[in-house]
Amino acid sequence: MIEAALRARERAHAPYSRFLVGAAIEEVDGRIHTGCNVENASYGLTACAERVAAWKAVSEGARQFKRVAVVADTEVLTPPCGACRQVLWELCGDVEVLLANLAGKTESCRLKDLLPRPFDASVL
Ligand code: THU
Repeated sequence: MIEAALRARERAHAPYSRFLVGAAIEEVDGRIHTGCNVENASYGLTACAERVAAWKAVSEGARQFKRVAVVADTEVLTPPCGACRQVLWELCGDVEVLLANLAGKTESCRLKDLLPRPFDASVL
């Protein structure tokens, strides 16, 4: 997963921030989908790596996920941003979230801990 996210990170389009991020999302059957951040000159249109990976996976028919990995070149491991947490919760529920950097530091957490008291269909 981390290797897949690392490879995806190399395809990031981040000419404005120069902050390259890779993500991987794994289905329960083991299939892995990847994403990288894709920036835009109109900054607000930027898509994070996690959302690209999740949307790519869903658009390919994937529905049940078990893990998400995020890789960036930071000493303090980069967690998904708030918007990505919300989208991942919608599509994946309480999955494992693996964080890693280029130096080989890793950490595992749960999406529920990153997004306590989520807004979702159960609230509507
Ligand atoms: N970014 C991600 O792709 N994922 C994250 O978890 C944090 C931020 C991207 C968005 C933008 O292209 C760059 O990193 C700087 O914020």
